[in-house]
Amino acid sequence: MLEDTGQRTGVAGLPERIRVEGGHRLKGTVLVGGAKNAALPCVAAALLSPEPVTLHNVPEIADIETMFAVLEFLGASAERVAANSITVKAPEITGFSPPTDLVVKNRANFLIMGALLGRFGKAACSPPGGDVIGQRPVDVHLAGFSALGATIGREGEKFTAQTDRLTGTRIFLDYPSWLGTENLMMAACLARGHTTLVNAACEPEVECLGNLLNAMGARVRGAGQPVIEIDGVEELHGTEFTVIPDRFEAGTFAIAAGLTGGDVLIQGAAPRHMDAVIAKLREIGVLVEETESGLHARGEQDLSAASLQAFPYPGMPTDMQPPFAALLTQASGVSYIHERVFENRMLYVAELRKLGAEIITTGGTTAIVTGATQLVGTQVRALDIRAGAAVVLAALAATGYTEVRDIYHLDRGYERFEEKLTSLGAVIEREIVVS
Ligand code: UD1
Repeated sequence: MLEDTGQRTGVAGLPERIRVEGGHRLKGTVLVGGAKNAALPCVAAALLSPEPVTLHNVPEIADIETMFAVLEFLGASAERVAANSITVKAPEITGFSPPTDLVVKNRANFLIMGALLGRFGKAACSPPGGDVIGQRPVDVHLAGFSALGATIGREGEKFTAQTDRLTGTRIFLDYPSWLGTENLMMAACLARGHTTLVNAACEPEVECLGNLLNAMGARVRGAGQPVIEIDGVEELHGTEFTVIPDRFEAGTFAIAAGLTGGDVLIQGAAPRHMDAVIAKLREIGVLVEETESGLHARGEQDLSAASLQAFPYPGMPTDMQPPFAALLTQASGVSYIHERVFENRMLYVAELRKLGAEIITTGGTTAIVTGATQLVGTQVRALDIRAGAAVVLAALAATGYTEVRDIYHLDRGYERFEEKLTSLGAVIEREIVVS
């Protein structure tokens, strides 16, 4: 697999780090941005129409910028028309095979395959990059394209897919792959006839994509459920659409409140998408209430150990298990964390140990946390987006200063993370790394 070669530097072109002074109680209101994992497929889906698609609530994060660069390479354009609003124009496409060094910056770039194949009958793309958390194959995507009538090939490192026109069919997905489901939904929208996706991913972001596609004139039923029915149409038109809030960002702030004995109003959060996270936070002892505008999280009582298993939606999101591990370092007793989605998503454990956490892994997919431990600031790395969130969260509860390096990972997925934390009372500074 090609590894993530994402941006290693900050805006000044130099590597950056953040320095967190722990021990400050977070208090106040924070606004949740649009969901990274919903905005990315929505941007890709805009390629399905020759007419402009305007998207609101698109987070300003590095992964979105990378996808803009991919679109521009293809001959489309993506322009920020207001804060968090963009317009994608793809009246015609001049390239069908984006460069590998761009594609491997994040995994969602592979979504151009479904969009280009659906609209133009051809596409080529290297296996995508993204967080290094396991094998992350794309066989579900390719088997689905093939079932829809595309010929799949290989040109060097790139996968190619070609067809005169896709034809709808019934497809069983070997695994309810999130991006795989989205790729096949996009391809099937413009296929001839009816497609049924069985064992589809049920994440709210998949439902969000279905809603955008329908707003563009597609006929998709059941997005967000295990069986999705799609009637192919001849063409899709432009539209204006708002991306759903980021449930992982909301969950991260709720954990930050719990870890710091804080009191945080998380405005714009969608509790309907967060059942597993809210239930586990309450079990651990974080007080969480739904409000009219989002969530209210308070860390007013002692935290207790708990066990959790990361599963596809509506289970506990795998993206939230590293942040929960940080929280459980401050919970009394022994907690078990089981990762059931990726085979290598526990590398962050070594970083939490540097901070003094009593945490071990067994078999690479189970972590055992013994708490509560007093964490002590030191130098750690953000190994991927959520591993990075875990160390920042732990640093908020540690004594002294923690230096977090490789924060380009955080910038890939969290919009103005340290700025938002600072507005709640955290003491965090971003610095250029000179040595
Ligand atoms: C998406 C999310 C990511 C999240 C993950 C799992 C985006 C941009 N990323 O990634 O944040 O952590 O879902 O919820 O939306 N698999 C196969 N064959 C395939 C595809 C996947 O076997 O063709 C396996 C993977 O190895 C993994 C599991 O399925 O074990 C989950 O992967 P998948 O749902 O595809 O994750 P992504 O869509 O890449």
